Amino acid sequence: MDKLQFAIVLCTTRENRSSDQVGDWVLDEARKLNNHNYEIVDLKDYPMSFFGDNDSVEIAKKFNDRLRIFDGYIFVLAEYNHSIPGVLKSALDWVNDSIANKAAAIVSYGAVGGARAAEHLRSILGQLQVADISRQTLFSIFNDFEPQKHFKPQKLQYELFAEMIEQLELWTKAFKSIRN
Ligand SMILES: Cc1cc2nc3c(=O)[nH]c(=O)nc-3n(C[C@H](O)[C@H](O)[C@H](O)COP(=O)(O)O)c2cc1C
Repeated sequence: MDKLQFAIVLCTTRENRSSDQVGDWVLDEARKLNNHNYEIVDLKDYPMSFFGDNDSVEIAKKFNDRLRIFDGYIFVLAEYNHSIPGVLKSALDWVNDSIANKAAAIVSYGAVGGARAAEHLRSILGQLQVADISRQTLFSIFNDFEPQKHFKPQKLQYELFAEMIEQLELWTKAFKSIRN
């Protein structure tokens, strides 16, 4: 089987963020589970202003060009004010058809596992014609992070993550077959 290409999208950009720790874990664990290709795509590398800002058009094009090469996506999502981080919403407003007709999974974290943010992201992905898989990995900032915000997932998370990756692989393969 051809290797599938997956982007692990880091969805926060603030200093001392946790998304890079969680993203590195996702990268390491996903690579242990199968032989597909996984790469980090960091929103920090695409400092766009809000949609419509002419100075951001070039960087938005680079962002879409980067996203386009992948077959599927894993969003590493924090919850901000019961929703997705504004920087992610703004970036998604710039997204054209680069991610359409592909599958995506969500790895979220927050006080209640980032569940509320994930539901909002699912509705945005639907509009962008991305098929979000139902399996999700939810990390609790109380149980999966040690003091000083060191990321240390509980054992059961490994199993849930593996189930999520399995479903993502299945749908990613299926959606690849409907694209040119
Ligand atoms: C602006 C802001 C708003 C937040 N709002 C929520 C929230 O509504 N629910 C929640 O569970 N956590 C909330 N948190 C806590 C974050 O989930 C937690 O700090 C997480 O580590 C943020 O991700 P980051 O470190 O990658 O930026 C908020 C954090 C920030 C900075």
